[in-house]
Amino acid sequence: MTAPDTLTPVLTATWADERSWTLDSYTASGGYEGLRRALTMSPDDVIAEVKDSGLRGRGGAGFPTGMKWGFIPQDNPKPKYLVVNADESEPGTCKDVPLMMASPHTLVEGVIISCFAIRAHTAFIYIRGEVLHVVRRVQAAVAEAYAAGHLGRDIHGSGFDLDVVVHAGAGAYICGEETALLEGLEGRRGQPRLRPPFPAVAGLYASPTVINNVESIASVPSIVRHGAAWFASMGTEKSKGFGIFSLSGHVTRPGQYEAPLGITLRELIGLAGGIREGHELKFWTPGGSSTPLLTAEHLDLPLDFEGMAAAGTMLGTRAIQLFDETTCVVRAVLRWTQFYKHESCGKCTPCREGTWWLVQTLAALERGQGSEADLDLLLDQCDNILGRSFCALGDGATSPITSSIRFFREEYLAHLTHGGCPFDAARSTAWA
Ligand code: NAI
Ligand code: SF4
Repeated sequence: MTAPDTLTPVLTATWADERSWTLDSYTASGGYEGLRRALTMSPDDVIAEVKDSGLRGRGGAGFPTGMKWGFIPQDNPKPKYLVVNADESEPGTCKDVPLMMASPHTLVEGVIISCFAIRAHTAFIYIRGEVLHVVRRVQAAVAEAYAAGHLGRDIHGSGFDLDVVVHAGAGAYICGEETALLEGLEGRRGQPRLRPPFPAVAGLYASPTVINNVESIASVPSIVRHGAAWFASMGTEKSKGFGIFSLSGHVTRPGQYEAPLGITLRELIGLAGGIREGHELKFWTPGGSSTPLLTAEHLDLPLDFEGMAAAGTMLGTRAIQLFDETTCVVRAVLRWTQFYKHESCGKCTPCREGTWWLVQTLAALERGQGSEADLDLLLDQCDNILGRSFCALGDGATSPITSSIRFFREEYLAHLTHGGCPFDAARSTAWA
């Protein structure tokens, strides 16, 4: 694994170490010290530590992790579960897979501490099925953890028992939605459930369940080891700590960049060697294609939950896809929309039918067919999906469309006047 450029070397600190994924390598760099510390604390104190750190969910939504753990009703006699959402599938998102490949024990240690805190004795790590190499790597780390006494019965004499099951999904994007993931884990077709009840109250097998993203859980060992104040000293007032930013597309050195929340895209692009030589940034996604696009005008905004919300978008999964002036925004948006149409689970009409219509309208515009009124039709179709769909997939499908029309309406119209994509004539030069 190559070493990522990093400003806060925590999660990625050991990625370049020789055989960084092994227990020996992890332990040599202080691994499992967080667990040993956690086992000297009470479960409630561990929850308080995570609450005080300000850690917010790293899967996209940014819900406070400690608060979510606090929702687990301890007076409920049913078993409690932890489910790690490792179904990373958001277009452009590539942080959880490299983390699990390079440092699976960070996740396993985080799972043990988190289960101790919420008093769960069974945890599931639900990994996207296509990445079989990751499934194998995490399985190997879990086996090493059992052999070392970090998992199993009476962990390190604490009286705490924990079993971990590594589960491979079947490759549906919707199974990253937490309730569809639970359906899949229970052996049914992956489709979202109505919330509330939230999984914290009735989740896996109708029992209280915490579902957290890989990066959220992997952040826990360092918080317990170094303390909440250490974590909270990084980032911004309401978006504390650090995160892995995945940069892809037209940038000199694509890859993972670990940095405090609140860093700007200008700074990240600087770390990544700039936009590819001779070109300039045209548009970008802050958190995958489900988050509204931004442009070169937004280079200096803080990449935190509040900064992105103020700009009308979302921090999401910090999947920053960068496109220079050679990219046709209409074609890029069409490609994403085809993805959402393909991945729509079909449960609700606005998304199932609406994403099909979005593709028809967009594809015609991209071919230069139709009229300016079709742009309004497209926005109307988005309006009939946004806020009317059963889960976030439908809403997300509209984000690249509405934001691209806001910033690049002229480019859509140019397809009509040109009778096709203006970029086709000169693929390597900008339309202007
Ligand atoms: P959400 O905001 O509805 O929920 C976030 C979390 O907080 C969930 O775990 C939910 O159970 C919990 N929660 C919220 N209110 C609660 C309450 N009152 N009581 C108990 N728990 C509560 O967001 P959602 O729909 O779970 O996720 C959407 C996000 O997923 C988007 O922001 C998007 O960026 C991200 N996403 C990530 C992908 C990936 O590959 N990592 C793929 C697609 C989307
Ligand atoms: Fe399924 Fe789409 Fe409806 Fe979500 S919004 S339930 S993915 S059809």
